[in-house]
Amino acid sequence: MTFSVVVLAAGKGTRMKSSLPKVLHPIGGKPMVQRIIDTVNTIGASSINLIYGHGADQLKQTLGHNELNWCLQAEQLGTGHAVQQAAPHISDDEDVLILVGDAPLIKPSTLEELISIKQSADLALLTVHLDDPTGMGRIIRQGDQVTAIVEHKDATDEQRKISEINTGMMIMSGQNLKRWLNNLNSDNAQGEFYLTDVIAMAASEGKVIKASHPSSAIEVEGINNRMQLANIERAFQFEQAQKIMAQGVSLNDPHRFDLRGELTVGQDISIDVNVVIKGKVTIGSNAQIGPNCVLIDCDIAEGASIEANSIIEQAQVGEHCSVGPFARLRPGAVMHAKAKVGNFVEMKKTTLGKGSKANHFTYLGDTTVGEGANIGAGTITCNYDGVNKFKTIIGDGAFIGSNSSLVAPANIGNNATVGAGSIITKEIADNELAIARAKQRNIANWERPTKK
Ligand code: UD1
Ligand code: CA
Repeated sequence: MTFSVVVLAAGKGTRMKSSLPKVLHPIGGKPMVQRIIDTVNTIGASSINLIYGHGADQLKQTLGHNELNWCLQAEQLGTGHAVQQAAPHISDDEDVLILVGDAPLIKPSTLEELISIKQSADLALLTVHLDDPTGMGRIIRQGDQVTAIVEHKDATDEQRKISEINTGMMIMSGQNLKRWLNNLNSDNAQGEFYLTDVIAMAASEGKVIKASHPSSAIEVEGINNRMQLANIERAFQFEQAQKIMAQGVSLNDPHRFDLRGELTVGQDISIDVNVVIKGKVTIGSNAQIGPNCVLIDCDIAEGASIEANSIIEQAQVGEHCSVGPFARLRPGAVMHAKAKVGNFVEMKKTTLGKGSKANHFTYLGDTTVGEGANIGAGTITCNYDGVNKFKTIIGDGAFIGSNSSLVAPANIGNNATVGAGSIITKEIADNELAIARAKQRNIANWERPTKK
């Protein structure tokens, strides 16, 4: 049978103390509700109904690219009332899988199992046993049979001892769901229309109710505050760490690894502690990433070595290149094979040719450097006149002496040499030496001033 999905996401998330709706807070760099939508999209739902209320504009802006039925719940009168808002989109002869927007680690396999046990039942529930079930809806059973869910606030002391709880995720036919929702009342401790009351209705009609469980409780753990957000983030990151380790990556500490995007890896890669990876990143075999590096939308080729505290964004690092420590590769930086960039070197829209080096304290912007060139310590390309940007070209085998300023547009030929401390404002042809600095003057027997 086909099924549609309802995602409950109308709550404000008061305890987050945030102007961002709770379900937009990120896990692994992606809004938590987007993770749920992505999961649902892998299991073949016919449509997704998103129940929204608080933060409508922000939700629509962030989630607008998804194919969703937007169902406004203007007032949050309870989970049953929330699902009711999707009723116009629900057809009788389809199953309806209800999910919560604040439990982002739910796995496709867990949902698939829930859907499959529904095939031999009228209603299937996802439940879990918790050491501390405080606050959760308790699963009431008679013998093996689930007969009701009782909310914590409505439960007797005896019922509160039950450790099996409602995760909020369940599936039933559209026809039954709509009929039961119409019979809900708010006659309970919270004065809300509880979705969970449909369980007792199903049981009283003699319907078959079955329960399945997630492989781990973390999958169904909801996020209500920032501590829970952080816990779920760590659980998510540990899972990602395990995945990439299984692909042949050594992580010095899988608990100090943060991937907020997609990482494609080769083998025998080592990643030291506190590395943050965002966007789409590729790391080739035998590459090493030192501690505290940030890699954003970049490609690190085979055998490259990124030393501690380097930041690489929208850049390409070629095979066996060396970067850092403390290097910054900004958008458009390209290093060809075996090129080297050392400490406190910044590159933007700059290509460093094969085997070329810029080892210390340098800024290269809008620059093309050929092969085998050496850019001395403290070299600065002056690429910006305050209004426009200009390009610098440095030829193969060029040698730029330390502390030189290359005023762009600059054109420095193959095997050209620039004397240390030069301010270069004119073109330098192949094989020429340019020295552009004040001549040294020596004064003999110089008397230093004395204190008056
Ligand atoms: C609910 C369940 C409880 C279960 C728990 C699991 C009910 C009555 N109780 O309790 O059995 O153990 O989840 O976490 O269903 N929401 C709306 N509109 C509303 C109310 C809630 O969209 O009017 C959304 C919230 O944004 C949230 C989800 O529904 O994503 C759950 O709501 P919440 O208030 O957290 O329910 P609980 O009281 O925790
Ligand atoms: Ca909750």
